[in-house]
Amino acid sequence: MPIDANNVPESFRWFVESRLGLFIHWGLYALPARHEWVKNFERIRNEDYQKYFDRFDPDLYDPKAWAKAAKAAGMRYFVITTKHHEGFCLFDSQLTDYKAPNTPCGRDLLRPMVEAFREEGLKVGFYHSLIDWHHPDYTVDRMHPLRDDAEARAANAQRDFKRYREYLHGQVRELLTNYGRVDYIWFDFSYPGPDGKGRDDWGSEELLKMCRELQPGILVNDRLDLDEQGGWDVKTPEQVMVREPLRHNGKPIVWETCQTFSGSWGYHRDEATWKTVDQLLYLLIDTVSKGGNLLLNVGPTARGEFDDRALSRLSAMGEWMRRHGRAIYGCGPAPAGFVAPDGCRLTYNPDLDRLYLHVLHWPIQDLHLDGFAGKVAYAQLLHDASEVAMATHGDTLTLRLPVIKPTVPIPVVELYR
Ligand code: GLC
Repeated sequence: MPIDANNVPESFRWFVESRLGLFIHWGLYALPARHEWVKNFERIRNEDYQKYFDRFDPDLYDPKAWAKAAKAAGMRYFVITTKHHEGFCLFDSQLTDYKAPNTPCGRDLLRPMVEAFREEGLKVGFYHSLIDWHHPDYTVDRMHPLRDDAEARAANAQRDFKRYREYLHGQVRELLTNYGRVDYIWFDFSYPGPDGKGRDDWGSEELLKMCRELQPGILVNDRLDLDEQGGWDVKTPEQVMVREPLRHNGKPIVWETCQTFSGSWGYHRDEATWKTVDQLLYLLIDTVSKGGNLLLNVGPTARGEFDDRALSRLSAMGEWMRRHGRAIYGCGPAPAGFVAPDGCRLTYNPDLDRLYLHVLHWPIQDLHLDGFAGKVAYAQLLHDASEVAMATHGDTLTLRLPVIKPTVPIPVVELYR
């Protein structure tokens, strides 16, 4: 059920405490290296996509290094694509031959990854695609790579989608049985309506029931087409910055935005739209200020590495998080009556009862906080704990900031109540 942000059950507190997670999109699409939807965009048939399966050999794969990079970035959970829309499985499923152990890679890639991330203390999330453009019984529809191929559409008559549904449920059972504690299941995605697929196609009600039976307390995202049925825990807007805290039936809810460093989820060699560190931190701060989590994605290469563009950003974010973590972890929107001035965001740590003013544009000395007078006992720059002088005029609290902007990407003033 949608989780009330003001009344988070104990079993889900780890999620809102975490605030920052790592999404990992990894599969055969890392070889073409031009988006995880390459099979769809380029209308590639299974037989023509096979060359990637035959050459998938991530010889530099080191999940311990991945886990350490995520931990150092300040990430507290991760979500891995066990299978994406292409149908290729990173794990040793007994229900298909289309899996990593049958490629030159020769092994289950999921198990060492889960072990490595658990070793670093991160919670475990499995992304699993409801969609499967490889499975012989998955019917061609408006999302399918062969959607414009009349012959492929005609062959739907020979496909038994019920058999695919059983395969889908069987693989989710394998994932939630064979890999220990799974904290978060992240299905993707439903597209009900004409020539689409939704809850009845997936058997979503039964699938959700099975997840909760196999992994009591597991967190479930919102893409099983069970919105009206309340068959979800976390709302997952993607690639957007929401305007205000998300609500359901008038109540603030727990939510998570998933985002890429660049435009592609899978490794994309030639893409240039990489967000800067400032943009990424702003994204994180803005998200938390509105009560959400940020699930930030890396697409590893087909050699099994995070590329330098990702590693440099993760490292820079970690450096900021090392000093500013208490302005993010377990934080959420400021209490009523506290409104951030232009060019700033406010987060609030209820455990510490402190406000955090994230200064996105460094002012010339004075920063005026209307309505804060008499409500702040002490102020300091968070990164070095250096005092910030305060003055009040009426109901306005004025912070006298150093003229020179501190040498951190986004300075934060810690306001003691
Ligand atoms: C979109 C993309 C899909 C990606 C997902 C992550 O649905 O199409 O490839 O896995 O976003 O949220």
